[in-house]
Parts: sequence; C-alpha cells; structure tokens
Amino acid sequence: MTQTHFGYETVDETTKAQRVRGVFDSVATRYDLMNDVLSMGLHRVWKAYTVAVANVQPGAQVLDIAGGTGDLARAFAKRAGPQGRVVLSDINEAMLRVGRDRLLDEGVVLPTAACDAEHLPFATASFDLVSVAFGLRNMTHKDKALAEMNRVLKPRGKLLVLEFSKAAKPLARAYDWYSFKVLPQLGKLVAGDDASYRYLAESIRVHPGQEELKALMKEGGFGHVDYHNLTGGVVALHVGIKC
Ligand SMILES: C[S@@+](CC[C@H](N)C(=O)[O-])C[C@H]1O[C@@H](n2cnc3c(N)ncnc32)[C@H](O)[C@@H]1O
Repeated sequence: MTQTHFGYETVDETTKAQRVRGVFDSVATRYDLMNDVLSMGLHRVWKAYTVAVANVQPGAQVLDIAGGTGDLARAFAKRAGPQGRVVLSDINEAMLRVGRDRLLDEGVVLPTAACDAEHLPFATASFDLVSVAFGLRNMTHKDKALAEMNRVLKPRGKLLVLEFSKAAKPLARAYDWYSFKVLPQLGKLVAGDDASYRYLAESIRVHPGQEELKALMKEGGFGHVDYHNLTGGVVALHVGIKC
C-alpha cells in the first residue's frame, strides 16, 4: 500500500481519503461560521479576488471542484447568468448538502455532483473555467486531480487553484503560533473539534509551496501557469491556462 500524508502523519492512501472524509463530515454544519472566525473574514477577500480573476462571462460553463458550501459557485452563477451553467461538486455529501441547502435558501438552484476530483464524471473539453478553493491540499493524488481538471477544460480554458501556501518569512513565526496554538483552541471552543483544526494547520505545512504547485500544474498539462500571493503568501491563487 502506498503511503501519503495526513497532516504530519504518514498513512496509507485509503486511510487518508477516509480521514479527510471524517474531517469534513465533522465540520460541515459549522464550516461557514468557522471559516469566518478562523480567517477573521479574510476568506471572503481571497474568494472575491478569485472571482475577479475568473472574469466569468454570461453563458460560461463553470465547474467548481471541492466546492463545499458553495461560496465560489454562487458568485460564478451570478455572472454566468441563465445561459450559463455552474456545477457545484465535492466528494463529501455532508458539505454538498449544506451548500445546496444554503443556495436554495437564497433562491439559487445549481446542479450539484458528488464526485472525486481524481475521477471527474464530465466530458472532455466541456468547461471554460474550473476552480478549486482550499480543496487540492486534501486530495491524495494531486497530479491525477490536476490532469482531470485539465481534461475537462476546453482549449484555452482556465483553472484557478486557491490554496494555502508558503507565507513570507517575516510572517512565519506569528503564523505558526496562530496555526498551532490559536487555531486548534478556537476549533475546540467554537466547534468542539480541535483535531480537525490541527489537521488544517498540518496539512497546510505539507502542501506544495508556490513554485512547487506551479511545476505540478505544468506537469498536469497547463501550458501557462502564474500565481498571485495573497496576504503575504499565506494563500496563493494559481492560474493555469490549458494551451
Ligand atoms: C476546506 S473545504 C473548501 C470548501 C470550499 N471550496 C471553500 O473554499 O469554502 C475542502 C473541500 O474539499 C473537499 N475534498 C476533499 N478531497 C476531495 C476530492 N478528492 N475530490 C473532491 N473534493 C474533495 C472536501 O470534501 C471539502 O468540502
């Protein structure tokens, strides 16, 4: 059995997928609240920036992968309009259910798909834009997932990967303190779940940094890849073009 990371632990690949599922089953109902609390609202700014870079046009075909509770999908749907199609997808049914219910409450009806990013159930060359926000880090075979994202994009289509990355040196100490001391405590206090938030901090540290992810995306078939550091590199938005 091939080994991989689950945060700082080394586990076999099937165990990782099960444990990631366990994390998101556990956090689904409080995910939105925790996102606001733990990022001090910054996730909204990072996502707004991503939506601006996406520049979705009326009629666009968009796939949001690991879309969770649907923040990006909702914003894309507004821009794609009634002629467009925005699919909200995620491997975790609990996350998708919360997302779908939240969107329905807001009067937004989107097609949803419960699927693994490593095996996308969509035709080749069917989307103008594919996005994945804070999801790639949790995938067991990032190379396979990126190749699948590339496959479902149309030629000249755009992939946006919004993910935690390597923070700039001057921020490193404060960021480590916040991640390993404050974050799990807040998780325990607000959601009664410190383990999931410890996993969050650890999984960020073992995720490829800006340049490594850029190289991985190029290997995945993206002819042009660029990245934008946000909040001193705490988060980076990678933009890949299928060419
Ligand atoms: C941190 S949440 C991000 C949710 C949303 N994109 C956001 O930014 O708020 C990560 C999501 O990745 C999903 N995920 C993990 N592994 C996945 C996989 N292999 N394929 C698809 N989704 C996956 C999880 O179920 C979870 O909903």
